[in-house]
Amino acid sequence: PAELRELLLSRISDVPDYPQPGVVFKDITPLLADPTAFRALTDAFVDLCERFRVDKVVGLEARGFILAAPVAVAAGVGFVPVRKAGKLPGATLGQAYELEYGTAEIEIHAGALAPGDRVLVIDDVLATGGTADASLQLIRRAGAEVAGLAVLLELGFLDGRQRLEPGLKGAPLEAL
Ligand code: PRP
Ligand code: HPA
Repeated sequence: PAELRELLLSRISDVPDYPQPGVVFKDITPLLADPTAFRALTDAFVDLCERFRVDKVVGLEARGFILAAPVAVAAGVGFVPVRKAGKLPGATLGQAYELEYGTAEIEIHAGALAPGDRVLVIDDVLATGGTADASLQLIRRAGAEVAGLAVLLELGFLDGRQRLEPGLKGAPLEAL
């Protein structure tokens, strides 16, 4: 709804020239510091868990962890981290993806998802869509089903939604 959207947007600040000149960085730390806004955001993600009947939430390092963990607790489902390569101690599945310059890799524990699990992926910002797209591939390779992808903020001018469209395979992308 419009009220939620206004509340959330009012707690995201613009930081010019971070991390490099010409980029306006969207800083979500004021939202995290406001318990009313953080709860409203969490409740909205929990609603999606119920609507999509999810069994697990996956949070994308690092800010996705902060947003997804309270959702998992409130929704009564498990939390599974997708981490930057080299951080998870057990056997992992890895997925490389393209950055503006070069590549990056994310990983999930190979046994973290059960076959048939319905998973909601949660992150703070959808930019180019590279990170989210790689996470969808990991979840499917782990044998689970992508029930949806939910982000706080979509940077529409970067066309991440278009890049993600094939990888979503019909799963909903919700930007709160
Ligand atoms: C940011 C953001 C998303 C991703 C979006 O994370 O939190 O995960 O980039 O970009 P994309 O859509 O172009 O892939 P970052 O890699 O900066 O990691 P952090 O949360 O650990 O700071
Ligand atoms: N803010 C936060 N995370 C991001 C951004 C941004 O503007 N762009 C890519 N990841």
